[in-house]
Amino acid sequence: MRIVSVAAECEPWAKAGGLGDVVDALARGLGRTDALDEPVDVFLPAYRSVVLPGDAVISEALVSVPGPYGPPPPAEAEGAATVTIRSVVTHGYRLRLVDFAPAFDRDGIYGYPDDPWRFGLLARAVLETLRAERRPIDLLHIHDWHASTTLVLRDRFYPDDPIVGRARLASLLTIHNLAYHGWVERADLATLGLDLGDRVVASTATGIDLLWAGIERADLVNTVSPTFAAEALTPAVGFGLDSTLRWKAAQLDLAGRPRFFGILNGIDPAVWDPSTDADLVVSYSAADRGGKAACRSDLLDRVGFDPGDDGPVLGMIGRLDPQKGFDLLAEAAPRLLSSGARLIVQGSGDPTLAEPFRALAGRRPDRIVLNERFDRAMARRIYAGCDLFVMPSRFEPCGQGQMIALRYGTPPIVHRTGGLADTVVDEYLHPGTGTGFVFEHPTPDDLAWACEQAFETRARPAAWNGVIERGMAVDHDWASGPTTAYLDADRRAIALAAAPRTPTRRPPAPRS
Ligand code: GLC
Repeated sequence: MRIVSVAAECEPWAKAGGLGDVVDALARGLGRTDALDEPVDVFLPAYRSVVLPGDAVISEALVSVPGPYGPPPPAEAEGAATVTIRSVVTHGYRLRLVDFAPAFDRDGIYGYPDDPWRFGLLARAVLETLRAERRPIDLLHIHDWHASTTLVLRDRFYPDDPIVGRARLASLLTIHNLAYHGWVERADLATLGLDLGDRVVASTATGIDLLWAGIERADLVNTVSPTFAAEALTPAVGFGLDSTLRWKAAQLDLAGRPRFFGILNGIDPAVWDPSTDADLVVSYSAADRGGKAACRSDLLDRVGFDPGDDGPVLGMIGRLDPQKGFDLLAEAAPRLLSSGARLIVQGSGDPTLAEPFRALAGRRPDRIVLNERFDRAMARRIYAGCDLFVMPSRFEPCGQGQMIALRYGTPPIVHRTGGLADTVVDEYLHPGTGTGFVFEHPTPDDLAWACEQAFETRARPAAWNGVIERGMAVDHDWASGPTTAYLDADRRAIALAAAPRTPTRRPPAPRS
């Protein structure tokens, strides 16, 4: 089997959130199985910030990408562009950087008005590279809306191509973030080389929702936990695509399984391991947790808290995005402080979401600290040094922080949603078997209540140690489940693509 993966992020080269971790870990995990003839190809934009190891062997090839990609964008975006594909075998996969300065030599990863054009260039460059190389591929694994464009452009320009055509190349779309769709107005379709009324865009369309188009066109579609896969079928969590996902889930593959489903992510136990973590002042493990106290003192020292105060220290780390529920923790903060708790919050993204914490930290620097940065080393110290880890996400396709916190012996407090519900067992409802604390509604009161249950359990050492020990024993290794589940999905997608196509009506349009 030969697999090509396309994404906007891949750790450690380019990461804004969990997407980057998953693309990297899955490619490595698949590469370690004997199911693949060669390493996974991971296509990633060569953003300005991408730094490769100095000793990496890099091969370069030029590929001509037709369409509206000639420099400079977007006004004169006519004609073909010459794109450099830099390839390097590293980390157990073949990283293929798509280098085209007008699109990617910019700060950061996302957030430009011409993002559809930029990721359209990525998509078209992938297709052109694969066609030029003439080596058959079995599966195209695309992630989120950025890579969904690949299927739209494939179906528009190369539906019957001997390498990338529909009958030849199976596709699996993984949805990590259902909130971002890649909406392109009808007036901007030309920036993707598309026209109204051509083979992929209906002449009556007001534009194109690229994630919707990916769901329509991919052989199989999954999201990153079983609970989120079920929630996404409801109007409350479906982000306007619930009916489209229901349409997909109602279709069955050749094994009689729904064409939309959930696969729970893993974490890499070698990357997230308190016994080898070089950013921790002292290492510790499930067998000997002695060093965790030193990690706590070190963390509190660093943030200017009194290490001698034994009151509960809560950590929260995440993208500053409304999804993550930073506001819930900020609103619950006064009640938590009155229970003797202290808060360590780290996040980067939308600075307005940090505002309440900035204000709180300004007033009570001895009890609340905000690290408004993406700081890898500090994140590890927070996972290790806090007593509890908070994840009040409003919705969460999977989430990674709670799995890391479990492994670092820091019980998570989570909203019962998506992947959080699939990975944390509530000690309050299931005393003696829990691994953390789970609350039902994303409100400050529910969050504060769950924190208080955690504080109460912490006051009972035998119960508390049980929660920590069970949490550290949970196995979320990619190798133990997710890699096999993806291989199975890959094979089902390949079987489906090879079978004669049965005509289906087009999916319901997204609700705006
Ligand atoms: C997105 C989701 C998160 C998931 C990650 C990796 O960031 O919001 O829940 O863990 O993708 O799949």
